Amino acid sequence: MLLLDGKKVSDYELSKLEIEINKIKQSGGRVPHLAAVLVGNNPASVAYVNSKIKACARIGLTSSLVSLPETISEIELTQKINELNDDASLDGYIVQLPLPKHINEQFILDKIAPEKDVDGFHPVNIGRMTLSLPCYLPATPMGIIKILEYYKIETEGKHCVVVGRSHIVGTPISILLSRNEYPGNCTVTIAHSKTTDLKSICRQADILIVALGRPEFIDDSYIKEGCVVIDVGINRVEDTSTKGYKIVGDVNFTSVKNKCSAITPVPGGVGPMTIISLLENTLRANLKQIY
Ligand code: GUN
Repeated sequence: MLLLDGKKVSDYELSKLEIEINKIKQSGGRVPHLAAVLVGNNPASVAYVNSKIKACARIGLTSSLVSLPETISEIELTQKINELNDDASLDGYIVQLPLPKHINEQFILDKIAPEKDVDGFHPVNIGRMTLSLPCYLPATPMGIIKILEYYKIETEGKHCVVVGRSHIVGTPISILLSRNEYPGNCTVTIAHSKTTDLKSICRQADILIVALGRPEFIDDSYIKEGCVVIDVGINRVEDTSTKGYKIVGDVNFTSVKNKCSAITPVPGGVGPMTIISLLENTLRANLKQIY
């Protein structure tokens, strides 16, 4: 079994980005700048945003954090979005999700200028992705693509089953893997909460991508011998360690490890890859390579 090491791929991608950023600096260009909008102080969102800002510093991008109160209204947040759209000093920005319940997420995402939408969540970027036009790809799907590429996993003609149809993982990765390019050219099935007999569908997969949000749900009875397993889950479960918890995926690693041909571990698989596209998209925005 081949362990698909996301940390290794992420370090490789970061060093490539660092070289491009150094070139900008050496030629006297403006250093790419990413802004992150954080509404409220949901602990997971604070941790994610901090890790994005830290990653910027690591490769020499500048960044700023726009912290807004939990009680901000939809109109006030829209005004802030308009300001960021007009701010020529920043190349791209993200609005960390989830937003508080009183704010309509899609309404806000639709207000982000597509050319600054480095998360790739705007309908224009998702539409362009579907048509294989230049666009910003969303973080987790692009991370998965880079892992498949790095390890030269054969995808053409393979049956890929994606479990989960979220807008940020399941739907975009199913589109990417069905496109006429490498990695892609898969026959894709999307399974979701209304799917009947999930197990028999998963057992047909040559490549199984699981983004379900249920700790260790997929065991060896769900997979075909030799399947490539991509585990997108990041679940906190209680344990007896000093921290009191551990992080597990949606796949039961111990159960499937001797049946699959390759697998992303959790932690250390897809997780470390999810920041790469954000940094790469910010660089592309600065160099005007997409729009
Ligand atoms: N919340 C969970 N994942 C993401 C992401 O990739 N981008 C943003 N903005 N929010 C998220």
